[in-house]
Amino acid sequence: MDDVFELAAPEAQAIFLRDVLDGLSRAQRTLPCQYFYDAAGSDLFEQITELPEYYPTRTETAILRAHAEEIASALGQNVLMIEYGAGASTKTRILLDALEDMAGYVPIDVSEEFLLHTAQVLRTDYPALAVHPVVGDFMIRFGLPDDSQGQPVGFFPGSTIGNLSDSEIVQFMHAARDLLGQASQFIIGVDLSKDASILVPAYDDAAGVTAAFNLNLLARINRELGSDFDLSAFAHRAIWNDTASRIEMHLESLRPQTVTLGGRSITFEAGETIHTENSRKFTIDSLTPLFEQTGWTLNKTWLDEKHYFAVLLLSAI
Ligand code: AVJ
Repeated sequence: MDDVFELAAPEAQAIFLRDVLDGLSRAQRTLPCQYFYDAAGSDLFEQITELPEYYPTRTETAILRAHAEEIASALGQNVLMIEYGAGASTKTRILLDALEDMAGYVPIDVSEEFLLHTAQVLRTDYPALAVHPVVGDFMIRFGLPDDSQGQPVGFFPGSTIGNLSDSEIVQFMHAARDLLGQASQFIIGVDLSKDASILVPAYDDAAGVTAAFNLNLLARINRELGSDFDLSAFAHRAIWNDTASRIEMHLESLRPQTVTLGGRSITFEAGETIHTENSRKFTIDSLTPLFEQTGWTLNKTWLDEKHYFAVLLLSAI
């Protein structure tokens, strides 16, 4: 497709290899979580969102449905919606249905195949909507597509913000403020702190879909970088880190083993882990200072009855 704005550098594979080697050579081995989302990983994530244990998606969706009219009237007309980490854009449809006279929609996602498919489906379902997909990592600064126009509104649902550290949130919100400009608004979905007995099963489901999602990262590295991870020798772990208020996902090496990658040998001890994701759980009070220092103010908060999840409306100041 020629109307796709590509962020991805031609050397994407070299960057992937560099990031993987960099993460795996640290004392606590780690892999960047944006690499979960190749086509297979994006599909697995969509399955996660439908699991009985995974409450965030259905809770956020219910909040958006319950308040769609109020959100739409706060956003006004001529909206250019910029969605960070768009995935299947299921929640977006709730807003697209409620908003009148939209100027356009800019979904950003690292998974090109998935994004282009979503864009195509949206164009069919919303023939009047100008859809301008952007392929890339939303943590890297980018410009709006030249042919996009309207009043920018950021949309960052799903508590993807929970993958970021405080300094990354500051960097992200600052870049978003620069990109979206004066008089812009921002809708952010935030997963709230709650008991570990609810959180742990949400990241370690009975059907093993989250385990498959986590292990797909090693499968992807094998596929794209020609390594030889033995997937049966690593196990999915979801750990609640109370001090940091986050779920951590790890892949634990079940035996001593050596993996070959990019001409290097990487040795794992039995029990050693690769830390693959942080999923932070917030209080709204802990986030407001980060918004205020990056040019945003919190205007409105919508919650579900159990206060599991919050949808926030911010305005540029
Ligand atoms: C897409 C980052 C919001 O942290 O809940 C789901 C990813 N990882 N199950 C989350 C995820 C494991 C998800 N986010």
